[in-house]
Amino acid sequence: SKPLKLGVAGLGTVGAGVLNLLRQNGDVIAARAGRPIEVVAVSARDRTRDRGVDVTGLAWHEDAVALAADPNVEVVVELIGGSEGPARRLVEAALAAGKPVVTANKALLATHGAALAQLSEAKATPLAYEAAVAGGIPAIKALREGLAGNRISRVAGILNGTCNYILTEMRVKGLPFDVVLKTAQELGYAEADPAFDIDGVDAAHKLAILAALAFGHQVDLKALHIEGIRNVSALDIALAGELGYRIKLLGIASQDEAGVTARVHPCMVPEASPIASVDGVFNAVLAEGDAVGRVVLQGRGAGAGPTASAVVADLVDIARGRTAPVWGAASATLATAPGLPMERH
Ligand code: HSE
Repeated sequence: SKPLKLGVAGLGTVGAGVLNLLRQNGDVIAARAGRPIEVVAVSARDRTRDRGVDVTGLAWHEDAVALAADPNVEVVVELIGGSEGPARRLVEAALAAGKPVVTANKALLATHGAALAQLSEAKATPLAYEAAVAGGIPAIKALREGLAGNRISRVAGILNGTCNYILTEMRVKGLPFDVVLKTAQELGYAEADPAFDIDGVDAAHKLAILAALAFGHQVDLKALHIEGIRNVSALDIALAGELGYRIKLLGIASQDEAGVTARVHPCMVPEASPIASVDGVFNAVLAEGDAVGRVVLQGRGAGAGPTASAVVADLVDIARGRTAPVWGAASATLATAPGLPMERH
């Protein structure tokens, strides 16, 4: 049957990972999608760089936004990153042209998600972002579909693989912060600007997305308390250990009568907690629903394979015609009005 033709923007760790996964698992992916999924065009800055992936035969666009206008491209995969610039322009152009978008861009969703959801609805064109939160963990599907029958009171978790990797290596191997950060960059976990990771901004983006899905409330990033792991010392980690705790960077969002509260900061987690032992590049996503109780998911939160796994899941949905509203309900229900104040901590 007719293949689904993709244009992929961004050939970094994740972009190369998606191309490789589509090739490596093409048979099972095609079986699940009902048809083959094929990359026909790509866009990246430097054509000559070796990315560990074969791009021969693919159309090459210097300008990412051109992918949206390429008549061969049916679905746009945005893996450039960043809340503005070419990533935003490409996603808007693709949706405006009625081409479904799959993105891993948490900064874009956390900043412009409400407006993009409206565009997606107006054009009846899906915008899918499973890869934007917690890498390979199917957290978006779990919250949006799996827990659709619940009122959610809390979503929380370890949402940044780089930070969790750094904190783990500092504790287990006694390595210094800077050395571990460098390894995390080499492994393709860290953001282009690793300050987004270690200052908690990346975790805040993901928390904002989870909160919007869980509570139908658009989180104002400026109102969030965000603290990263720069000031966590080896001594802090050792002393916490003596007291029976692990230090983890957590994102926590909850809703009660007073409104929605969301914050990101290092926490002392008791060793007996199910998330204390989530180490290395692993993330954890915890949700509490009134019917289901507590659900905890864990898995790799960054890196080529896990992120590509989530991108391909969205592509299979699109190939099958399975689509859901961006925030799980009509964007008009996404509360932005006062009455649900963000508390400052
Ligand atoms: N830099 C991110 C992390 C990548 O370390 O979790 C996945 O979003």
